[in-house]
Amino acid sequence: MAEFSLPRNSKVHPGRHFAAPEGAKRTRTFKIYRWSPDDSENPRTDTYEVDLDRCGPMVLDALIKIKNEVDPTLTFRRSCREGICGSCAMNIDGVNTLACICAIDGAADPQPALAPTPQRPSVKSKGPVAIYPLPHMPVVKDLVPDLTHFYAQYASIKPWIRTQSSPPPDRERLQSKEDRAKLDGLYECILCACCSTACPSYWWNGEKYLGPAILLQAYRWIVDSRDEATGERLDDLEDPFKLYRCHTIMNCTRTCPKGLNPARAIAMTKQLMLERHG
Ligand code: SF4
Ligand code: SF4
Ligand code: FES
Repeated sequence: MAEFSLPRNSKVHPGRHFAAPEGAKRTRTFKIYRWSPDDSENPRTDTYEVDLDRCGPMVLDALIKIKNEVDPTLTFRRSCREGICGSCAMNIDGVNTLACICAIDGAADPQPALAPTPQRPSVKSKGPVAIYPLPHMPVVKDLVPDLTHFYAQYASIKPWIRTQSSPPPDRERLQSKEDRAKLDGLYECILCACCSTACPSYWWNGEKYLGPAILLQAYRWIVDSRDEATGERLDDLEDPFKLYRCHTIMNCTRTCPKGLNPARAIAMTKQLMLERHG
């Protein structure tokens, strides 16, 4: 039987250990992936024990506390800290999600009233919390993935309204309530890339397959009643790789921290392709 082994320089080694401060009564351990392009070291996982009685409730709170008080070299992206900007997307306990809305202790979530979606993220395990960058992406440093290609793919679908007709002289292009409702479940996408980086087809064919996030965005413009480039948009997706590498595995929908359904958007796009071919 064939044996596979990782290249020597990609093996993740155990790293440094930072113990909880003396007197901490309620601690949680975080094992965090570390890698820097500035040295020739292998990646490692550093272990940090955090006093939860002196930490906010979300995984991002723990990361910020570690960076501020324990290890300023820890590198991660964040901005809004309320699930809007998508910057803090990472793999927490094996699930791609947003660190800022992922409760460290799901059972002790202090804001259940703010949970509109059935899958509000939280750490499910009781043991150490493993934190890695989004999978199958090049890493810039530590928890920061390189999203250059992902953004180029987003630009490729021309994510803006394209029209041929002149706009009304005295008002915006209007939309009926029903047409506006077609954008629900699509406009909320924050392009965090959690879904695309959970998609096996995107792992293997990401160079050419657009992946669930970008395809959901493409569908968002296809169904916008004000857009007048629907045919061209479908033409652009009519390609064995861009769209048809989706095999309905559904990892995308399962992992979306905003409770969206990219797999449905892809299925609807395929349906439109079928309809126009009669
Ligand atoms: S569909 Fe969900 S997981 Fe995918 S990019 Fe948008 S918000 Fe993120
Ligand atoms: S349903 Fe399609 S896009 Fe979603 S994870 Fe599966 S293959 Fe990827
Ligand atoms: S920091 Fe903006 S989504 Fe988490």
